[in-house]
Amino acid sequence: MARILTGITPSGTLHIGNYFGAMRPAIELQTRGEAYYFIADYHSMTSVTDADARRRFTHGIALDWLACGLDPARAVFWRQSDLPEVCELMWLLGTLTPMGLLERAHSYKDKTAKGLAANFGLFAYPVLMAADILLYDTNLVPVGRDQKQHVEMTRDMAVKFNQTYGETLVVPEPEIRADTALVPGLDGQKMSKSYGNTIEIFGDEKVLRKKIMGLVMDSRTPAEPKPDADKNLAIQLLRLFTPAEVALDYETRLRAGGLGYGDLKKALFEHYWNFFAAARTRRAELAANPGHVEAVLRDGAQRARATASQVLTRAKQACGLG
Ligand code: ADP
Ligand code: TRP
Repeated sequence: MARILTGITPSGTLHIGNYFGAMRPAIELQTRGEAYYFIADYHSMTSVTDADARRRFTHGIALDWLACGLDPARAVFWRQSDLPEVCELMWLLGTLTPMGLLERAHSYKDKTAKGLAANFGLFAYPVLMAADILLYDTNLVPVGRDQKQHVEMTRDMAVKFNQTYGETLVVPEPEIRADTALVPGLDGQKMSKSYGNTIEIFGDEKVLRKKIMGLVMDSRTPAEPKPDADKNLAIQLLRLFTPAEVALDYETRLRAGGLGYGDLKKALFEHYWNFFAAARTRRAELAANPGHVEAVLRDGAQRARATASQVLTRAKQACGLG
């Protein structure tokens, strides 16, 4: 049975890009293999340096995953830092990772280009991510397109390890959904916590309505036909929340002329808000019982450790450690 693994970094509040790019595919896959899903709190240290904020984001993301359908009876669900074994595997992999490979990482290049001061953690991030994946003999990694290169780097590291020390590590594959690989943000760029252009999965209704009603459109009047309706940002987002024919109906009306941007954005908000209604109720119930969430994560860490310790022992033996 395939082992499926993914992680989300607790560096902010989760948005619909995280949901469609990573969470929903992962939740769908939990019935089709052995699912290993974790909260990448070590990874958050490259961007968050406030301990309380990290705790709050980590707890929030645990609630989000559970509310959106992660089933802890099926999936192993844990907090990355509860298994520091991952840092040990990171060292083994790091000693085989060429500087040039890490220098080519898009996320590192983007972040330093945006002025983020580079430190060792940011540079080594792909090695930690590779350790996350390889520590669990992972076959499939459901992620958004922005993480594809990191999974490819993970494959390179696994192959290099196997060439150096003999067949030890499983070489994983990324799983990227073409339709939701890149959810656009409020500004039309990739939606990302770090770009301030997000629509959160959960949050205050008024704030979220204001965000969606504030989507910038062009100055064409409602009556004008819009031949480029398929590229309209509100239509692109609407497609995520409605059956294809409903989004197509709005697109056709926008193209023909007669549908105003205000009405389109109102419809988008309603579809978005209803889409997460059941999850919102579940999240409120879970939030009222923080002990339960903590127990789920502890139990997950124990189950994760059973696999991690076997793989780490195998890797250490292969290199002549211990
Ligand atoms: P962010 O860019 O907001 O910090 P993360 O890097 O923590 O998001 O991403 C967590 C997961 O969500 C990854 O699998 C990533 O590929 C996916 N993801 C993030 N943003 C998007 C997006 N706009 N569209 C599709 N998937 C996304
Ligand atoms: N780097 C990923 C991100 O920012 C999160 C992550 C950490 C991850 N470790 C992982 C995703 C392992 C998949 C597998 O989105």
